[in-house]
Amino acid sequence: MSLYRRRILLGVAGGIAAYRSAELVRLLVKEQAEVRCVMTRSAQAFITPLTLEALSGEPVHDELFDLTAEREMGHIQLARWAELMVVAPATANVLARHAHGMADDLLTTILLARQGPVLMAPAMNQAMWSHPSTQANVALLRERGIHFIGPDCGALACGEHGPGRMCGLSELLAAMRMCLGSGRLRGERWVINAGPTWEAWDRVRVLTNRASGRLGYYLAEAAAAEGAETILVAGPGVPHSSLPMTRLDVESALDMHRACLHAAEGADVFVATAAVSDFRFAERMGGKHKRAGRQRMRVELVANPDIVADVARLPGRPGRVIAFAAECRDHVRSAQQKMLEKGVDAIVANDAERMGAEEASGWWIDERGVVELPAASKRHFAEQLLERIACMEDEA
Ligand SMILES: Cc1cc2nc3c(=O)[nH]c(=O)nc-3n(C[C@H](O)[C@H](O)[C@H](O)COP(=O)(O)O)c2cc1C
Repeated sequence: MSLYRRRILLGVAGGIAAYRSAELVRLLVKEQAEVRCVMTRSAQAFITPLTLEALSGEPVHDELFDLTAEREMGHIQLARWAELMVVAPATANVLARHAHGMADDLLTTILLARQGPVLMAPAMNQAMWSHPSTQANVALLRERGIHFIGPDCGALACGEHGPGRMCGLSELLAAMRMCLGSGRLRGERWVINAGPTWEAWDRVRVLTNRASGRLGYYLAEAAAAEGAETILVAGPGVPHSSLPMTRLDVESALDMHRACLHAAEGADVFVATAAVSDFRFAERMGGKHKRAGRQRMRVELVANPDIVADVARLPGRPGRVIAFAAECRDHVRSAQQKMLEKGVDAIVANDAERMGAEEASGWWIDERGVVELPAASKRHFAEQLLERIACMEDEA
């Protein structure tokens, strides 16, 4: 789930972790989310509105009785404007005030006027967090449908150790994606492979390629955010996600073949984004090959199994099988041929020369024809693919 153009209202309360809201705003802006910030008076003792204003490019709201904004009922508008409201950090005080329906500053007034999803990331001293009052307030808010992420356990700014640290920003972003997801893939199992493979020659050297695995990783995040049970079969170097999914780490094409066939049996969707090595070394040496004075040497390679073709032949074939084809020329024609050979339902052709690039582009090919997919960030591209795959009819 990309945060591209999603309207996020960030409430910042007065805890030490308020300084982390600056980095959070920067990450949201980087994803091209529309971010507006509301700060409590105490928050401004920890970080200035100017910092958040400069990072978000929007005025920061901090006054309930701001005459210009309130002529248009600014607090109600902000509550309605946001697709998601996030309070990070959420202090014990904000939790208590909101749990008891108080509306004595702009942040708590907006919270009370809000009808859409709210996500809170509490952060405080461990004794404050464990206090029965705070625990009762959190239970009450949870019951009313407020989402919570964290706090984490660890060393706290006050020098103590225990639960109370604000969660990591990647966990927070993952939770935001989940809150914004529609849950429409609930009940479906999606298996996605991603990344390069490593074919070992000896103990230290491998045959690999330039794939980063990010497209498959973003697709897995998008599927998980929409509620699918997601299994990511990850080659070396694929980033770790904080969204709920099962990750199967593999190294070689044979490992990936085994893991994919096992995971894809009976799945709803299988998407093969991984750049799997076509060949592996016929013999794998222990230790390290020595040059031994040679100026030239021959190695023998043997073909690896074709993962996506084998998945498409499974007795419990997934309802939709989608392959990727990285081609250097005749992209569409070569991919169309591959689609028939492999028995898949659709194929995404892309330019092999652009492997590892920041953006993705390509062609979506299925039995109905060819659609050009213009260049977009990999996350955005993955979301467009998710849309197409989610709308396909099952073949099995
Ligand atoms: C140095 C310092 C650090 C604080 N850190 C936290 C904290 O991490 N979490 C918290 O709930 N309260 C913390 N407090 C207490 C809050 O600032 C205080 O409860 C305040 O009334 C919160 O206001 P607000 O919830 O309107 O932002 C801290 C106070 C001080 C002086």
